[in-house]
Amino acid sequence: MLRSPPVSRALIVHRSEVALGELRDILRGRVECDLARGSAEAIGRFADADYDVVVLDHRPPDSDATEMLRATAAAAPDAIVILMTPGREAAERIEEQADARVFRFLGGPDQRWQLPGIVAEGLRLRRIERERRELVQKLSADHARLQRREKLLDAVVRERTKDLEAAYVDLKAANRQALLGLAQAIEAKDPYTKGHCARVAEHTLTLAAACGYPAEEMENLEYASFLHDIGKIGIKDAVLLKPSALEPCEWEHMRQHPVVGDAIASQIEMLKPMRPAIRNHHERWDGTGYPDGMKGHDIPLAARIVCIADAFDAMITDRPYKRAIPYPECLNFLRRGAGRQFDPELVEFFCRERIGEGLD
Ligand SMILES: [Fe+2]
Repeated sequence: MLRSPPVSRALIVHRSEVALGELRDILRGRVECDLARGSAEAIGRFADADYDVVVLDHRPPDSDATEMLRATAAAAPDAIVILMTPGREAAERIEEQADARVFRFLGGPDQRWQLPGIVAEGLRLRRIERERRELVQKLSADHARLQRREKLLDAVVRERTKDLEAAYVDLKAANRQALLGLAQAIEAKDPYTKGHCARVAEHTLTLAAACGYPAEEMENLEYASFLHDIGKIGIKDAVLLKPSALEPCEWEHMRQHPVVGDAIASQIEMLKPMRPAIRNHHERWDGTGYPDGMKGHDIPLAARIVCIADAFDAMITDRPYKRAIPYPECLNFLRRGAGRQFDPELVEFFCRERIGEGLD
């Protein structure tokens, strides 16, 4: 059921009883009117009712319109004030003295017929102004609510990011443990190579840093160097642990370890980036290596680096079938192999780095 809009209420202030009656008749049906014969009576009425419209009469010399206008501004600041006055200049002076706004000035009694139209226009403008204020209030409340929600979301995102970062660190640590565990499994098969994987990783990182290997790929390269011989898991113990020289067929079996390692790595997601180093670390610069007979820069860079690190560690450590070779000889051996077994540029980087460390 539709509700009729609230009836607007007007206060008409005039010294003349007759004028009050006329003005009420003019406004009948448009607003409900209260009448007051002077400012004292009018001010008293403000205590009892809220007025939407106040019509004031100003008749010099004994007019109290200024006081009345001031009182209206204090008691009904939103009311539409219409000032009936014979002189426009006097009306503006009153407005200035009262420091209050008059909606419209109206001349003598002959202009009173305009009053309904002025009141209607004033009420319409006031309604629009109220709607505008409500809209501004609503928008500012919505804005504040959105800001609160945004802050809350920020806090949640920060918290989740922190959790994810912590989980990522944990996951990386778990991955590292798993990969190092695999490396230990390789060494467990061949106790004579104990510590070999870790040392190859150390030489690999030294050479990689010296030759400007991409920093973001350094961690993968480190793991690849740890696991380059993972394929030895698939080599028969009789061959892997044989203390004497291998027969040709045994060598053939041993030479399968890069391919076996590659096959293992291809099945494990986190090992896939390491496949080139695992499969090709026994390729030779001159193309006579295995398993793919790659040559020069066709050999993946990670494999060329691990190849040098692997050979260097084999030279500097004792094995059952040979004694460790002194550093200077190792470096000379690497240099002699540059361009044949090893990438010559990488050999130079490595030797300079080791000489710089005072190890040659
Ligand atoms: Fe190997």
